[in-house]
Amino acid sequence: MAAETKFSVLPRHIGIIMDGNGRWAKKRGLPRTAGHKKGADVFRDITTYCSELGIEAVTFYAFSTENWRRPPEEVNTLMDLFREYFEELERRERENEKMGFRIRFIGDISGLPADIAALAAETERRSNSETRTTVNIAVNYGGRQEIVHAAQLLAQQVQSGALAPEDITEDLFAKHIYTGDLPDPDVIIRPGGEMRLSNFMTWQSAYSEFWFSDVLWPDFTRATLDEVFADFDKRNRRFGGV
Ligand code: FPP
Repeated sequence: MAAETKFSVLPRHIGIIMDGNGRWAKKRGLPRTAGHKKGADVFRDITTYCSELGIEAVTFYAFSTENWRRPPEEVNTLMDLFREYFEELERRERENEKMGFRIRFIGDISGLPADIAALAAETERRSNSETRTTVNIAVNYGGRQEIVHAAQLLAQQVQSGALAPEDITEDLFAKHIYTGDLPDPDVIIRPGGEMRLSNFMTWQSAYSEFWFSDVLWPDFTRATLDEVFADFDKRNRRFGGV
């Protein structure tokens, strides 16, 4: 049965921490970079599945502000995987229009290599009118950094006299984080066996459901996502009410 008819409710926004690539590769006697390559293929398949299901938004943690500490070869492979994906989006513009992907990058894009920052801006511009599924790719991203960035934007408005400090509400603050025009994630998925958020969607996750699993990201499939949907369907979300 198709997932959209199997579940009574699907999440509107999903956050995904793509963890376990290195261990997946190690188990096979491969370099860690092979795990990231397979992980990028899974990323593509899961974005396609989300579009097929009409999921409004999906946010992937692709590169954190801390990931620069990894060996240069690994960082370079990840940057090359981003380049490949952006070039592929350009080549396959028609197909992507069919998917209806609006692609966004969240994080400090100015800290990325200049060619990637330019490709990211171009990808966002070209896909901006799409409405089916927003795909957020978090690169050079940190949840606390995102909150500080929002605070800086508001502080500038206060400094210029456009805003009074007492007018800063939760709603206004939420509009200034990177995903300000989207609903908060209903569920955050972390494969790879760790049970923590690792600075991902710190503001947005206040009421999110969490789904942890030992499955490694390169082994994550559409059927795994169906398991998440089945669990989500069973959970009763009260947002602090009764
Ligand atoms: C964490 O696993 C994963 C990352 C730091 C990189 C995730 C990025 C991708 C899968 C590429 C996505 C590609 C595009 C085009 C968006 P880990 O290496 O820390 O795993 P480990 O805990 O097993 O070592």
